[in-house]
Amino acid sequence: MSPYVHLGWFVLLVLIPTASGYGTGAPADACVTMTPEHNNSSPQTDKSPYTLEVKRSVDDNDTMQACVKGKSFKGILGQIRVEGKTDPIGTFNDTNLPAHTKVMNCTNDDDSVTHASTADKPDGACFVWKIHDHNCKHTLQFVATIAENKDIYWVELKSHVFFIAGHANEHEGTNNGATAAGLKFFTFALCSLLAVVAGTVN
Ligand SMILES: *[C@@H]1O[C@H](CO)[C@@H](O)[C@H](O)[C@H]1NC(C)=O
Ligand SMILES: *[C@@H]1O[C@H](CO)[C@@H](O)[C@H](O)[C@H]1NC(C)=O
Ligand SMILES: *[C@@H]1O[C@H](CO)[C@@H](O)[C@H](O)[C@H]1NC(C)=O
Ligand SMILES: *[C@@H]1O[C@H](CO)[C@@H](O)[C@H](O)[C@H]1NC(C)=O
Repeated sequence: MSPYVHLGWFVLLVLIPTASGYGTGAPADACVTMTPEHNNSSPQTDKSPYTLEVKRSVDDNDTMQACVKGKSFKGILGQIRVEGKTDPIGTFNDTNLPAHTKVMNCTNDDDSVTHASTADKPDGACFVWKIHDHNCKHTLQFVATIAENKDIYWVELKSHVFFIAGHANEHEGTNNGATAAGLKFFTFALCSLLAVVAGTVN
């Protein structure tokens, strides 16, 4: 390939996203800092109009919905992280994404979500997320940078912390559904209690 071809890719990959304020999604180098690298603006420091919420999916106890509430938004880079860590964990489902959003690979496949275009995403847009490693000792959080537009954005907004209960029914070793459900509920209750305690401490 001639150097000019390389230059062309450089212009395409680096300059165009910069000029457009990452119109087609966050770049990979924002995975950890969640900060857009365009220079003509800096993150907002006032209180964000957005809140991040997580709620358990009703039809599947291992999935959560991670939602952005407050008003419509144009840009997002969102991950579920262990509280205080930067590695994204789990997987977002790419079959039921809000319009104009997409999954992206930061550390693992589909572990992050971002915008696919600058079209408005509605107030209350939710991403469905599933944990890999069922382990309630981790305190998890939905963490996201949300852009109202190219120049106005809030970095690393955070939801309440939450836990995913372990696969209690798989550890039962019997077909006693009632006991398995009870144990699962107990595990969930215990994890929720820990989450409340953790939330109070922070
Ligand atoms: C962007 O900002 C950084 C830090 O403020 C600075 O070092 C850098 O030179 C700036 N780049 C451009 C292209 O303005
Ligand atoms: C989810 O958990 C609730 C409460 O423990 C239970 O009633 C429900 O059947 C579970 N749903 C699934 C799909 O496992
Ligand atoms: C994604 O969600 C759809 C339903 O909306 C479901 O059928 C599918 O199994 C999910 N995919 C994963 C990987 O969980
Ligand atoms: C993520 O990685 C998978 C394979 O590991 C690949 O098929 C997919 O295209 C990647 N997604 C993006 C957005 O790069």
